[in-house]
Amino acid sequence: MTQGPAPGRFITLEGGEGAGKSTLAGHLKDRIEALGLRVTLTREPGGSPKAEAIRTMILSGQVKPHGPFVEALMFSAARIDHIDRLIRPALERGDWVICDRFIDSTRAYQGALGRIDEDLLAELEAVTIDGLMPDLTLMLDLDPTIGLARAARRRAPGEETDRFEGEALAFHSTLRQAYLAIAQAEPSRCAVLDAAQPPAVLAQAAWSVIRERLPAPQVA
Ligand code: TMP
Repeated sequence: MTQGPAPGRFITLEGGEGAGKSTLAGHLKDRIEALGLRVTLTREPGGSPKAEAIRTMILSGQVKPHGPFVEALMFSAARIDHIDRLIRPALERGDWVICDRFIDSTRAYQGALGRIDEDLLAELEAVTIDGLMPDLTLMLDLDPTIGLARAARRRAPGEETDRFEGEALAFHSTLRQAYLAIAQAEPSRCAVLDAAQPPAVLAQAAWSVIRERLPAPQVA
């Protein structure tokens, strides 16, 4: 009997603006690859050509006038394509997939902040992911005043804030609480990390969680 590739693992990174998700994603990719495993690094909204096109529409603010439920539908449409085109094929090949934002961003930004009915959003999530829950979600927790200042430093001179960065501080504080509530409700999937730590320390903390919760297969 021929043996297929070991099934990959699906890790998602979540957190508010400027929490350091993309820097951490790069560190984790290097660490996992050093074990001889293949990594697909991706992000949401985006990760496939159709989903990237939807990303541009949403982040430009074009969808905002239609309200949070339509925004949730658009994020979900992008997610369906991303899962079909990139995430599932990568996991089936045996890759480890690291995704910068996933379902918890919709739960927090559109659900908690947009005040969409929880049951309705849960139904939308179920049809969107069709059973593809992350094996592990790392929640990068950070005081939003620090996160927004980091995001501002990252912008090019004259570049405007995007659809969500431009919201008031109260929005970002609610967002932080929404993420913490998700982590508390699903402790076996989620781990909260202190994102105020220097990037190398954060990466080490994240790596410890991965080693503990997702033991890598023996590699030659
Ligand atoms: P970022 O990935 O560069 O942070 O930009 C994505 C923005 O979109 C960020 O402000 C969070 C927001 N977002 C949602 O509101 N809902 C979602 O489902 C996702 C994936 C992102």
